Amino acid sequence: MPVEVLSTETPALLRAAVSRAAERLRAGEVVGVPTETVYGLAANALDPAAVARIYAIKGRPAHNPIIVHVASPDMARACASAWPPLADRLAAAFWPGPLTLVLPRTPGIPDIVTAGGPTVGIRWPQHPFMQGVIRACGFPLAAPSANLANRLSPTNARHVVDQLGDQVPLVVDGGDCNVGIESTVVDLTAGVPRILRPGMIDEPALRAASGGTAGGRGAPEPERPDDTAPRRSPGLLDRHYAPRARLAVLTWRDDAGLLTQMQRLGARPESTFVLAHHRMPQVVPPSQVILIPDDPEAFARALYAQLHLCDAAGAAWILVEALPDTPAWAGISDRLRRASRPA
Ligand code: TXA
Ligand code: MG
Repeated sequence: MPVEVLSTETPALLRAAVSRAAERLRAGEVVGVPTETVYGLAANALDPAAVARIYAIKGRPAHNPIIVHVASPDMARACASAWPPLADRLAAAFWPGPLTLVLPRTPGIPDIVTAGGPTVGIRWPQHPFMQGVIRACGFPLAAPSANLANRLSPTNARHVVDQLGDQVPLVVDGGDCNVGIESTVVDLTAGVPRILRPGMIDEPALRAASGGTAGGRGAPEPERPDDTAPRRSPGLLDRHYAPRARLAVLTWRDDAGLLTQMQRLGARPESTFVLAHHRMPQVVPPSQVILIPDDPEAFARALYAQLHLCDAAGAAWILVEALPDTPAWAGISDRLRRASRPA
């Protein structure tokens, strides 16, 4: 059966899409949904059979837990068995929005959602469709990004249809994602809050909202690569967020410098695309140079769509001009680092 794609462009269409999607979700089906970060593949979080379909469709490993999406403070608290004061502060500052809080789960959250673990990731998304559909359903929605495992996350409905259109009955078109990369994931279950996955809500913003002074206790910090403790987010070890093309992040002073690095990589000009934000190189055809604004919000919003385009154009290599090493860019740099790992 061909996938049904519903627009949300007018208030009436949005209402119709919400009610159609809620009907499908109540029936235990999986629906492609827009959020402000990336598109998600949603199912009733309280229905293990529906969530099992998400894993099957994505080819997602069973060890990788799924974020639960809510639409009110009460719904969020109902998923967690403890709600520390820091959760209140972060929720007040950033929800609805691109922040996921990891908290101890309640028994009502099925094992399959948490990958058998004692914690659950909870997010209250901002996109009006998500708010509407979660309220209409009355239950939380489990939703990973709507891509096949280890592939690039979708930031528009076309990306979802292209990857998963033959496996889901319905995709809701909520336009281009406004944030463009996945939510910041903060673990509040250990003594010290930890940023498990950086995103566009950055460390200084989390710190400010935590009421902590710089270096003060209680403000979330990034997980350090040299941490000896096992990582608390198993899914974050996988090669994620990757286009089909090989990807490298490079710094170059001039065209000669870029060309030398391309030769070292074995990247041929005719099949190499360059994502630049600062220097326009002339070593590949002009149609293969993509300029993204030198601003983290704009860069994040555009990044995945540009990587999807490079893949569609048959790129063998995507070379990304290195980004500033500041907290505002940390989420974007994290995704590019993962995408540049060899498969
Ligand atoms: O912005 C987002 O977070 C998007 C949209 C759809 O909400 N969702 C998303 O889901 O990116 P997914 O499954 O692609 O990535 C969620 C990440 C995974 O790496 C997973 O391991 C981690 O969050 N995660 C989920 N639940 C967790 C938990 N209980 N403890 C630690 N990490 C968790
Ligand atoms: Mg994902």
